Amino acid sequence: MDEPHILHQTVGNIAIIRINRPKVLNALSLPLMADLATTMEQYDGDDSIHAILLAGSERAWAAGADIGDMATASPEEMRERNQFAIWERIKRIKKPIIAAVSGFALGGGCELMMHCDIVVASENALFGQPEINLGIIPGAGGTQRFTRAVGKAIAMDVVLSGRFLSAKEALAFGLISRIVPKEHWFDAALKVAQQVAAKGPLALRAAKESVLNAEELHLSESLIQERALFYGLFETNDQTEGMNAFTEKRRPNFTGT
Ligand code: CAA
Repeated sequence: MDEPHILHQTVGNIAIIRINRPKVLNALSLPLMADLATTMEQYDGDDSIHAILLAGSERAWAAGADIGDMATASPEEMRERNQFAIWERIKRIKKPIIAAVSGFALGGGCELMMHCDIVVASENALFGQPEINLGIIPGAGGTQRFTRAVGKAIAMDVVLSGRFLSAKEALAFGLISRIVPKEHWFDAALKVAQQVAAKGPLALRAAKESVLNAEELHLSESLIQERALFYGLFETNDQTEGMNAFTEKRRPNFTGT
């Protein structure tokens, strides 16, 4: 039996999903991406789970889409395959996704990372959109999300030259939010996931939606949406509990109601 290409388990209220194709540096094959989306959706619908931790291995988060899947595909096959529909499913996950990144995060791997909400990266991580070396361009949002994250100058440099960014560069350019020592790449990300998962799930969902709106909508529209989400939280027990706990100088006990 082949090893499953996705491994997953729960630790408390966190779902840990690991990409598991070590022989090809976690290249994102179509079946892997389909399983990943399905697994994420299952956890997204599970009220006992408050955050998802997505990890690769120490050597590679993911070195891109599986080149073998695409090497001999015709344009018609590529269009018919409609692989990016799977990515749309990952984009619709409502719970916070924390990425634990070590090693290569390239091409589709970098794009998958940009579908996550917080990126905790090892000091040895390398990032890039090297599709230009294959005679193609990024197709899962790489030219768009990468540019929004780092700005046009760096995006052009990386996308046109195919060069890799170090973790320090990626942090300085705004692609990731934390760098951790390489021996703690997983534990440190788990700690961040635990910190996030301790918050109220309804507020987490609203916060994620609202921050993502900043990328999708015009400012006037996203401000209206933010206000609606803000007022909506005043209908929840978690808001009452959060504010009472603050006043009473104790830890809140959020129930997701
Ligand atoms: N797809 C399929 N197999 C891959 C792969 C990928 N994206 N990346 C690495 N592998 C395989 C290699 O073919 C190799 O397999 P074999 O042992 O059978 O030869 C194995 O993983 C180990 O890789 P290397 O021997 O190349 O390891 P290295 O340390 O010398 O180099 C690397 C590492 C720089 C990451 C190099 O493997 C590499 O450049 N990989 C491709 C990166 C890339 O171009 N990614 C973009 C893919 S296209 C895409 O993602 C499109 C999109 O937008 C959706």
